Amino acid sequence: MSKNVHHLLGIKGLEKGQIETILDTATNFSELLQAPVKKTPALRDITIANLFFENSTRTRVSFELAEKRLGADIINFSSSSSSVKKGETLIDTVNNILSMKVDMVVMRHPAPGACLFLSKHINAQIVNAGDGTHEHPTQALLDAFSIKQKLGDISGKKVVIVGDIKHSRVALSNIYCLKMLGAEVMVCGPATLIPKHIEKLGVKISYNLDEALKWCDVANMLRIQLERQDQRFFPSLREYSTLYGLDLNRLNKLDKEITIMHPGPINRGVEISSDVADSQHSIILQQVENGVAVRMSVLFLLAQHKL
Ligand code: CP
Repeated sequence: MSKNVHHLLGIKGLEKGQIETILDTATNFSELLQAPVKKTPALRDITIANLFFENSTRTRVSFELAEKRLGADIINFSSSSSSVKKGETLIDTVNNILSMKVDMVVMRHPAPGACLFLSKHINAQIVNAGDGTHEHPTQALLDAFSIKQKLGDISGKKVVIVGDIKHSRVALSNIYCLKMLGAEVMVCGPATLIPKHIEKLGVKISYNLDEALKWCDVANMLRIQLERQDQRFFPSLREYSTLYGLDLNRLNKLDKEITIMHPGPINRGVEISSDVADSQHSIILQQVENGVAVRMSVLFLLAQHKL
């Protein structure tokens, strides 16, 4: 979200003060969402198009609810039931939708950089809802909000992100966001799933989950993204789960409490066991709940040109 363009294309490019403004405003919306009347007409003159060129449950529903809570008019577009199937290009598709007087576009797309590309060709504000292996900024913002809600100040907290770092837009956006807010960040996983030179982003690296868990205050467990893997990065899911899966046995070996996160969707029994995902250590469903307030904050601030 640059000062003049007013998009949210990624966490990279945001300033610390802008992230803090988003999180502070989300706190106000979070309080509104606890009230009997959960709506405000703040965006009643705005029309938002939700364009999803890739599957989503949490992000799509969360944006739609955030928009409705803000009183916006919305249209939902899914590429699987559209004229994209007949060969229409991304720019033609979006420009046709924009011709119906749409102000803002929320887009998920499998291609890294798709939102940046679109921002150079269309006349509307764009919010990145996940672009391939690149960024997922609202996920990182809701993750930061959830850590703050559970542990207080993020500065100085130790967060390990575990799993498929190489293919994860959640990992990259989280690293940018948490580092900006003063957290210490570690990535942990098999060497084949840790990108070369990632330490240049100021993160620690561990290949041993038990050591990483001893170090951290928060463990963010990522899904193995088999759909993005064009080769085998580990011998079997069983071996991955043995070395990098989080179960109660591993948690019980620690002499401290840690907070467990997961962006979803969960592969139960692979990167996280059900007894951990559903335990009191886990804030997975709070993350989903907080997503609505954080997305309300982003949409509101963008529409008001307050970022
Ligand atoms: N966390 C997340 O992006 O989930 P969805 O793919 O279901 O939107």
